Amino acid sequence: MDTLNLIKSRRSVRKFTKYVIPRCTIEKILESGRWAPSGLNNQPWRFMVLESGGKDELAEYTKYSQIIKNADKIILVFIDKKASYNYEKDLMAIGACIQNMLLYIHSQKLGACWLGEILNKRDEINKLFKLNDNLQLQAAIAMGKPATHLKQGKRKNLENLILKRYKLQAASHKLL
Ligand SMILES: Cc1cc2nc3c(=O)[nH]c(=O)nc-3n(C[C@H](O)[C@H](O)[C@H](O)COP(=O)(O)O)c2cc1C
Repeated sequence: MDTLNLIKSRRSVRKFTKYVIPRCTIEKILESGRWAPSGLNNQPWRFMVLESGGKDELAEYTKYSQIIKNADKIILVFIDKKASYNYEKDLMAIGACIQNMLLYIHSQKLGACWLGEILNKRDEINKLFKLNDNLQLQAAIAMGKPATHLKQGKRKNLENLILKRYKLQAASHKLL
C-alpha cells in the first residue's frame, strides 16, 4: 500500500478480537514512535505498555473502559517534563510520535484508538502506577486485531482547508 493510502485507510478501532500482539510487534510499534521528529531532537516521549492486569486497573479511570478492557494491549504515552524544552513544541512532537505508532499499527493489519478523554484522570493514573510527577500522561493507545472491517473515514474538503492563494488543480485531489 502506498503511504497516502495507508494514511487515508487508517481508522480508529474500538473493538478487537482475542488476538495477542506478539512482543516483537509491540517493540516495533514503540520503535516507530521513537523515530518521530522532535524539537532539538529532545525525544520527550515515554511509554508504558499495559497488559491484562494493568489494563483492567486503568479502565476504572475512563468512560471508555470497554475499549480498554477489550483491547489486547495499551500504550500509555507520557511527556517527560524534565526532557521538555518548549511545552507546546514538545506536545506537537508527542502527537507525531503517536501518529507514527498508529500508522505502523495499521500497516501491520492491527488496529488502534487514540484515547484522550482519559487525561481527565491523569493525576490519579500517575498515583495508580506510582509514577513521578515529571511524567504527564498525553494519551492512551488501545490496540489489538480489529474485530470488524474498517469503514471509510470522513474529512473536510481540501478546498475548505486552504486559506488563500494556492489554487488546487481542477478536482485532482478528489481523485487521490
Ligand atoms: C487527541 C485525540 C483524542 C481522542 N480521544 C478519543 C477518545 O477519548 N475516545 C475515542 O473513542 N476516540 C478518541 N479519539 C479518536 C477520534 O475520535 C478519531 O480519530 C476521529 O473521530 C477520526 O476518526 P478516525 O481516526 O477513524 O479517522 C481521539 C483522537 C485524538 C487525535
